[in-house]
Amino acid sequence: MHYSSSLISGLALLGSAQAAFYSKNSPVLQVGAKNYDRLIAKSNHTSIVEFYAPWCGHCQNLKPAYEKAATNLAGLAHVAAVDCDDDANKALCSTMGVRGFPTLKIVRPGKKTGAPMVEDYNGARTATGIVEAVVDKINNHVKRVTDKDLSDFLSEGGEERPRALLFTEKGTTSALLRSIAIDFLGVIPVGQVRSKESAAVEKFGITSFPTLVVLPGGDKEAVAYIGDMKKAPIVEFLSQFGSPNPDPAPSKSDKKAKKPKAKKSEEPAAAEEPVVVAEPEPEASEQQPPAKAQPPPIATLMTADELAKECLGPKTGTCVLALVPEEKHEGADALLETLADLVQRNVQANRALFPLYAVPAVNPRHGALVGGLKLAGEVELVAVNAKRGWWRHYEGDYSLTSVAEWVDAIRLSEGAKSKLPEGIVVEAESAETQESAKAEEATQEAHDEL
Ligand SMILES: *[C@@H]1O[C@H](CO)[C@@H](O)[C@H](O)[C@H]1NC(C)=O
Repeated sequence: MHYSSSLISGLALLGSAQAAFYSKNSPVLQVGAKNYDRLIAKSNHTSIVEFYAPWCGHCQNLKPAYEKAATNLAGLAHVAAVDCDDDANKALCSTMGVRGFPTLKIVRPGKKTGAPMVEDYNGARTATGIVEAVVDKINNHVKRVTDKDLSDFLSEGGEERPRALLFTEKGTTSALLRSIAIDFLGVIPVGQVRSKESAAVEKFGITSFPTLVVLPGGDKEAVAYIGDMKKAPIVEFLSQFGSPNPDPAPSKSDKKAKKPKAKKSEEPAAAEEPVVVAEPEPEASEQQPPAKAQPPPIATLMTADELAKECLGPKTGTCVLALVPEEKHEGADALLETLADLVQRNVQANRALFPLYAVPAVNPRHGALVGGLKLAGEVELVAVNAKRGWWRHYEGDYSLTSVAEWVDAIRLSEGAKSKLPEGIVVEAESAETQESAKAEEATQEAHDEL
């Protein structure tokens, strides 16, 4: 039954090749191979991307829910769509591993610009399902500030810089505040203070919650925000104290750079771009200095199964794991850069090296690993040989010299090894079975929706 209606809408679309799948006024951001990197992969914001084909019936069915999700997520995350039927986008869709339509992926900034974390969205194809999943994946750069570390928060990075503090009764950080912190990343650090932190509350004379306060820097007086707790007015307020980042959203400069006629399928929704940002400076994205040749990042193990297969299976040999937090973290960035550098140097010198991986906290086995090995730091580097049952803990700084020395010692089998505790090594199959059962469940759910 579904099939015939899909077929009809598919034929109808073929008949009117002119009409775009998502109209000009759609809240869905239309992205193509040319701007995918800039708008999605390099964005500081989280995106959900639908890879679709205009003739696909399930894509048609998803459209209303997807547009609703886009409206609901405006200002919080990007909701984008790529037309995989467009020849210009075919390579992109295949690189992204798209095998059926629609395919939905959540993309969010990883440790390195341009190397985002990508995961399939297999949840319900409803606006609510999509919104909840995306909101859950908005990175959190909001610092929880307590009475104890208030003075650190106020002095970090120099007394002169502006900062924002939200006083709230809530223990969790809202998607709204997280998205604001992303807009002002590196410009205005954003903190959140709970109402029970009485010294901080008293210091700023806060009498009601939530209250947002800006500390302009230097000895300037704190300024409280008065207005709706909504994205646009808050961003406008904060912009008086520091310019938000040029989020790579379609802007006027994009349109100027293109011949309007040639690119029918690209960015017709530019004017409707839902994420609230200040006007990016023209050419800001075009004039970035050419990046100095960076070594390719080391591989990331996102799933329990990958981890079991590559490093923690009963038969896996020596491998190095960098355990890193989910959120952007300077130490983690420094370590991953050093490891990437190390790998590249070994490749260039034609020297064999055991595999090195990043394991972000989103990996379901990250916690078990950290707990099992009794690691205390936010960023940890370990070497493991599951087959032989040993592991080693790195405790130095993240300079290339120091890390390389440690790696060389392992290579030469020098230095003390610890015995791997129980429960660290798992059969890939058991991890896999669990995962595929979950995936099946999710797929079933998705089908129920259709
Ligand atoms: C992303 O955040 C960084 C600060 O961490 C900022 O320098 C950069 O301009 C932001 N990128 C975009 C595209 O907004």
